[in-house]
Amino acid sequence: MRLKNRVAIITGAARGIGRAAAELFCREGAVVIIWDLLDVGEQTAQELRDQGFTCEFQKISTTDVPALEAAAREVAEKHGKIDILVNNAGITRDKTLLKMSHLEWQQVIDVNLTGVFNCTKAIVPYLVERQYGRIICTSSVVGVHGNFGQTNYAAAKAGVIAMCRTWAKELGKYNITANAVAPGFIRTDMTDAMPEEARQATIATIPLRRMGDPADIAYAYLYLASEEASFVNGQVLGVNGGQAS
Ligand SMILES: NC(=O)c1ccc[n+]([C@@H]2O[C@H](COP(=O)([O-])OP(=O)(O)OC[C@H]3O[C@@H](n4cnc5c(N)ncnc54)[C@H](O)[C@@H]3O)[C@@H](O)[C@H]2O)c1
Repeated sequence: MRLKNRVAIITGAARGIGRAAAELFCREGAVVIIWDLLDVGEQTAQELRDQGFTCEFQKISTTDVPALEAAAREVAEKHGKIDILVNNAGITRDKTLLKMSHLEWQQVIDVNLTGVFNCTKAIVPYLVERQYGRIICTSSVVGVHGNFGQTNYAAAKAGVIAMCRTWAKELGKYNITANAVAPGFIRTDMTDAMPEEARQATIATIPLRRMGDPADIAYAYLYLASEEASFVNGQVLGVNGGQAS
């Protein structure tokens, strides 16, 4: 029970890595609130409630600032506090620079970069108020090394690291830590959309010769949210099977 009585908001937790994190955080004793725009988020929350956990779903986009402010207020009023935010929601719109439209650029920046700013901005007053907080942001191996066909995604994921390091410096005095996790190649709907040939080519670049599981990333989130990581601040934890390290 490493998160006993902690109140955690996890964005993009209707499915994939976020869902694995919601389940793990629940098992470790946290009250979990899922922020996602997919209706299946309610099913995810219900399945966790069926196992006896406290899990709620708020249908919301991380791009909707007034809705985020209202949702954060609702969580703080209902549960008395917010302890942990995992900025996990993300999208891809992959194209090479020659083919990428301005719309594809903007959509990814809006969710993967501005969305992280929006969610953190909405919850940070509640963390400061109680002089405690854990902010965890999902970057990517791509945000450190770049990747073919991912100008928009790589830029956003690099920006997430820079924001986290800035928040570590600004918020440390309030006993709030901010860290990033940089996943490698993880088996989810996001990577299922890749052509098989590209998937095999990527696996060949991973020393462990396999894709990661959503749980591999969820455990990294758990570590950074736990008391064991109370002196870890402004760091980027790569979880990538040794790829590009
Ligand atoms: N799968 C990988 O290999 C991999 C690698 C590196 C980083 N990541 C990052 O990990 C995170 C989770 O990815 P995943 O693989 O589980 O993807 P996924 O597509 O399975 O899940 C992403 C979730 O985010 C939600 N979401 C998207 N836009 C949203 C918005 N505007 N507001 C609220 N929710 C929104 C989706 O509805 C979905 O439930 C993402 O930030 C992704 O960029 C994934």
